[in-house]
Amino acid sequence: MKLLAQILCLALALTISLSHEHEHKHEHEHEHDHASAAPDRCHGIEMDAVAVNEKGVPYFFKGEHLFKGFHGHAELSNESFSELDDHHHLGHVDAAFHMHDKETPSHHDHMFFFLDHMVFRYYQHKLEDGYPKNISEVFPGIPDHLDAAVECPNPECDHDSVIFFKGDEIYHYNIKTKAVDEKEFKSMPNCTSALRFMDHYYCFHGHMFSKFDPKTGEVHGRYPKEARDYFMRCSKFSNEHVERERCSHVHLDAITSDHAGNMYAFRGHHFLREDGANDTLKADTIESAFKELHSEVDAVFSYDDHLYMIKDEHVFLYKVGEPHTHVDGYPKPVKDELGIEGPIDAAFVCEDHHIVHIIKGQNISEVDLKASPRVAHNEHPIHLFEKVDAAMCNAEGVTVIVGSHFYRFKSTQLLVSENTLPEQHRVSLELFGCDH
Ligand SMILES: *[C@@H]1O[C@H](CO)[C@@H](O)[C@H](O)[C@H]1NC(C)=O
Ligand SMILES: *[C@@H]1O[C@H](CO)[C@@H](O)[C@H](O)[C@H]1NC(C)=O
Ligand SMILES: *[C@@H]1O[C@H](CO)[C@@H](O)[C@H](O)[C@H]1NC(C)=O
Ligand SMILES: *[C@@H]1O[C@H](CO)[C@@H](O)[C@H](O)[C@H]1NC(C)=O
Ligand SMILES: *[C@@H]1O[C@H](CO)[C@@H](O)[C@H](O)[C@H]1NC(C)=O
Repeated sequence: MKLLAQILCLALALTISLSHEHEHKHEHEHEHDHASAAPDRCHGIEMDAVAVNEKGVPYFFKGEHLFKGFHGHAELSNESFSELDDHHHLGHVDAAFHMHDKETPSHHDHMFFFLDHMVFRYYQHKLEDGYPKNISEVFPGIPDHLDAAVECPNPECDHDSVIFFKGDEIYHYNIKTKAVDEKEFKSMPNCTSALRFMDHYYCFHGHMFSKFDPKTGEVHGRYPKEARDYFMRCSKFSNEHVERERCSHVHLDAITSDHAGNMYAFRGHHFLREDGANDTLKADTIESAFKELHSEVDAVFSYDDHLYMIKDEHVFLYKVGEPHTHVDGYPKPVKDELGIEGPIDAAFVCEDHHIVHIIKGQNISEVDLKASPRVAHNEHPIHLFEKVDAAMCNAEGVTVIVGSHFYRFKSTQLLVSENTLPEQHRVSLELFGCDH
């Protein structure tokens, strides 16, 4: 089961990177190019339904619209799921889940959408033959007009199950026997959508969410929390909260660690700094510490007491200190400074070297920082990842971050030559010490 979970996680991690490839950076550019009818998730809306797709990317449904991944603008749901249009009278998606049922291949890995009294079964964005069907036909004992649904594989639930929510009624539906177990989740609010993500269960209500135990409905810890803090990347919405940054599921833009063991991790408008001496984490806005850069950096590496921060076609250079100071003459074009065309995805320098390794798409190349002029050479393809979000190198080796996960390699050499993915780790839990 552990193995299974790992394989699933793997698929998830690999593909989250794909999903945000197109909307990766600069989402603010999209803020204005949509009709007023399209909802803005940063305004604090209540989603109708949420489910991961076959690749592990969360899809949030609101009215006629769909938000893919953790940031980016709304799309019309019928652009991705055209058949939803043929059943306009059914209204919007009430509930959705991603079926996890290895024993029933016809169901496994399919997305199920619930509209009114009907259920739609999709595989890779195509409606399956015979659907939509009445909910009562496919899930006997489950009512119409649902509020939320979420898959719950064994052993997270006692059996491979789906949990359905309607008002304060909870139904555990056993996929194999079709038995329905009605439960009361006393400490939980009524969910308007529910999501299983990275083996955890989230109930969304309004623009808040609570993490819950799928067997008992118990909510442990300080909930509800603001969904925009953890499940959406909203540029204007923030309270400089360390916990939010360390626990966020949104991918990082860049990460670096310097000789003293200090780590900087960048995401959107914020960054986290871990002090090497005492392991304390601090969150701050990029604007306040790296004013010239503003926000949303592509890659950062540390070299010789400086932070090289790359954004689009430019390199910003900061001398590390309190405060960091921007070096005169910068920003400079990436091409002039590093001998490679920007933009790039990730860059890192290992402790005892003066070589910066630059990841761009599926290629990695090297630039000798002592050479003049600097030129990129020794290009190799990376087979293990389609898209790397961020990477750093320190005493523990090379850390490659993709979506919500990271992978460690003993050396850059191994990152290039390995044919199988090493163990997958969670960024929030294992890099930043978040407890969930
Ligand atoms: C999707 O829905 C919108 C709004 O209801 C409609 O204008 C549009 O024609 C539909 N597009 C497709 C591809 O069906
Ligand atoms: C589906 O449900 C509708 C409304 O409840 C009912 O009229 C219809 O006969 C049902 N169809 C099937 C195939 O059960
Ligand atoms: C939860 O749903 C029940 C109906 O099932 C309703 O009576 C109750 O008022 C709802 N609670 C909230 C807080 O909306
Ligand atoms: C950790 O160290 C930094 C400087 O190295 C200092 O500013 C900070 O106050 C320290 N934090 C704690 C909790 O000791
Ligand atoms: C990666 O390298 C291949 C082969 O050298 C090249 O065709 C491709 O354009 C490169 N991709 C990027 C993003 O540089």
